Amino acid sequence: MTGTAGKTTEPWRVGVLFSRTGFMAVIEETQLRGTLLAIEEINAAGGVNGRELIPVLYDPASESAAFGLCAKRLMIEDGITTIFGCYTSSSRKAVLPVVERLNGLLWYPTLYEGFEFSPNIIYTGAAPNQNSLALCRYLMETYGRRFYFIGSDYVYPRESNRVMRELVRHAGGEVVGETYLSLRAKRRDFQPVMRDIRSQSPDMIFSTVVGDSTTYLYQSYLEAGFNPKTQPIASLTTTEAEIRAMGFDVGEGHITAAPYFECLAGESNSSFVSRYKKRYGQDEPTNMCVEAAYFQVHVFARTLERTNCMDTDALRPMILGSEFEAPQGRISINPHCGHTDLWPRIGRANSRGQFDIMWDSKAPVRADPYLIGYGRSTVFS
Ligand code: ACM
Repeated sequence: MTGTAGKTTEPWRVGVLFSRTGFMAVIEETQLRGTLLAIEEINAAGGVNGRELIPVLYDPASESAAFGLCAKRLMIEDGITTIFGCYTSSSRKAVLPVVERLNGLLWYPTLYEGFEFSPNIIYTGAAPNQNSLALCRYLMETYGRRFYFIGSDYVYPRESNRVMRELVRHAGGEVVGETYLSLRAKRRDFQPVMRDIRSQSPDMIFSTVVGDSTTYLYQSYLEAGFNPKTQPIASLTTTEAEIRAMGFDVGEGHITAAPYFECLAGESNSSFVSRYKKRYGQDEPTNMCVEAAYFQVHVFARTLERTNCMDTDALRPMILGSEFEAPQGRISINPHCGHTDLWPRIGRANSRGQFDIMWDSKAPVRADPYLIGYGRSTVFS
């Protein structure tokens, strides 16, 4: 459509791929909400250069292969170049070859295992140097040196544990057990793991369990009589959303490392939290994945304002180096690696389903997805 001044008023169409159904829906639904909240805010302020943003949504239903197929459909049939989406690393790895082949741009708002670079992905969640490093140090200072690893069986847990094992050993700790369960694991599948934990007697559990089985892990742990005060489960993925799903009493006392928690002080976060609750309900908590899903759309819109075109080759150089006052603090898209410089923090879940901040970085930490600076890091020295 063309306006009177010959200026197009045609909307900008963007793809959105998060699961609303299946075993990942609890967290991915919140990422969808963060994405849509940002789009609504941008449209309420007049859109981008007077043109509305229109999300084209598909539900890949927690199936990694479906993410690849939906990405193809978005790019080939719907003619879309920019996609916001993916929680699991296996879904990202299914979308990666599609955006690379068709020169699209995936905005990925989830912490992951690092050791990846694609010119067609902008990574806005934490890399291991922004969560695992600080978590390892905190756990060893607070609880002891003997770790037990439990994870869902796919790429993120296996690779994340590989990194964590290296950090633990380097700091003089020990991994006394390592177990993987299916992403579709049920509550009964955790019983043998509880027996193994009892027999190994670690000082803490490092969990890379994701999705619905997160609830089964923490419930089984409570039922087995382990005490989080002295022997917590520590995670990079258990957010306010998973704590709400499992029950506040079940999550209390356990530890999570993340750049964002709902409880953060500051005007940027309190206004974000109140807008989120107004839109989705007073009982709906924000979390690190919502926050990244939210701020990345704003970073995109500001860039689009400058390029006035959705071509990936025009957008990417303008995205790199851009900064944004996010709810977690000022973030920037690192021009060297397309990951985001973020604020590492450690939280401990309390009886209200919120996290108390146990440690926070006094400055943003540069994304180092290949851990090149490891050994010289200020976070873990
Ligand atoms: C993840 O799979 N990156 C949590």
